[in-house]
Amino acid sequence: MTKQRSSSPTRDNQVKEDLVLIIETKLVKAVDPAIDHDAIQQAAQILKNGGLVALPTETVYGIAANALDSQAVAGIFAAKGRPQDNPLIVHISDIDQLAPLVAQIPPQAQALAEAFWPGPLTMILPKSQLIPSAVSAGLSTVAVRMPSLPVARAIIREAGVPVAAPSANLSGRPSPTTAQHCVEDLWGKVGLIVDGGSCQVGVESTVVSLTGDIPTILRPGAVTPAQLEQVLGKVELDPAVFSHLEEGAQVSSPGMKYKHYAPKAQVVLLTGDTKAVMNYLTKQQADGVFALVFEEDMALLPVQGRSMGPIKDSSSHAARLFGLLRELDEAGAKKIFARTPPKNDVGLAVYNRLIRAAGFREVYL
Ligand code: TXA
Ligand code: MG
Repeated sequence: MTKQRSSSPTRDNQVKEDLVLIIETKLVKAVDPAIDHDAIQQAAQILKNGGLVALPTETVYGIAANALDSQAVAGIFAAKGRPQDNPLIVHISDIDQLAPLVAQIPPQAQALAEAFWPGPLTMILPKSQLIPSAVSAGLSTVAVRMPSLPVARAIIREAGVPVAAPSANLSGRPSPTTAQHCVEDLWGKVGLIVDGGSCQVGVESTVVSLTGDIPTILRPGAVTPAQLEQVLGKVELDPAVFSHLEEGAQVSSPGMKYKHYAPKAQVVLLTGDTKAVMNYLTKQQADGVFALVFEEDMALLPVQGRSMGPIKDSSSHAARLFGLLRELDEAGAKKIFARTPPKNDVGLAVYNRLIRAAGFREVYL
């Protein structure tokens, strides 16, 4: 670890010194725990020592630290530039790690764990004393998830501790779905980036709160409302999922307050049939204008564009979305017109991320 001093003279010619902590980052590949044992060992060792690791999961890459070590967790907030009042998800490798983290396991949580874990589902439960307040951002609850990607679980198991891991992007940027995205955002800030290839799901886990009377979805993901209802009966969707919050509004999930998933370009959603969308885009032709559309639209586009996949393939939209937003930034996009995706299955999550990236700008054609 090296500390670099960057000096900048102030107006009265005194030297103001900012301490910038730069750490050596390594990049290793790990796809199969049975083969990539060395990489998994390295990652686990860093976590045990209180360091930070960017690791793959089936949803998006996470920036991981020992969830029981407040100082290590503070490092996550610093590396991401994350607001302190936005709590973290604690990741476990095995079900017996759950009980010590929570005040109790309600029958609904038991049922959800049996149905969807390991997998892209996060549950909000009353926390135990073991959870540092840095993880829960002072709330009385904790978010817990057991990822399904074998490499992620192998690292957590080898570390022997539950692992706090928000998405491995700089705060406000699109979540990373490849190791290269982690390199862009976190090089010099984490000890290790574990390259497990592209994330299969591509959008973050479904977050469901079990702390109120009716289970409530705080963030849609690959586990759909219909799937949750099959296990839980009635499930509500938090109003903040699709609507713009007033300044100072009470939120169930602090993450909802923040502008999220956003590329540098301005994003606008276009809702309408193919003809109306193409007519609209024809009038928008300008330098730096791009479209994010479906495979079927590509041949008709009057502006430069990218395909999220066939219109009916919501899984493909999810898998490609964040990578494409980053790619369009790289391509110099100033404005991105995204065609509103179908909201069925994981499509609801894709729409939720897009409307947030768009700052709720949606044009109905
Ligand atoms: O798929 C995922 O969930 C990824 C991968 C790495 O596992 N992680 C992830 O973490 O998306 P993050 O920090 O980017 O998103 C966590 C969301 C935030 O919106 C946060 O506010 C919310 O979960 N959250 C965490 N703890 C909470 C709590 N106790 N109550 C309400 N919301 C909570
Ligand atoms: Mg995030």
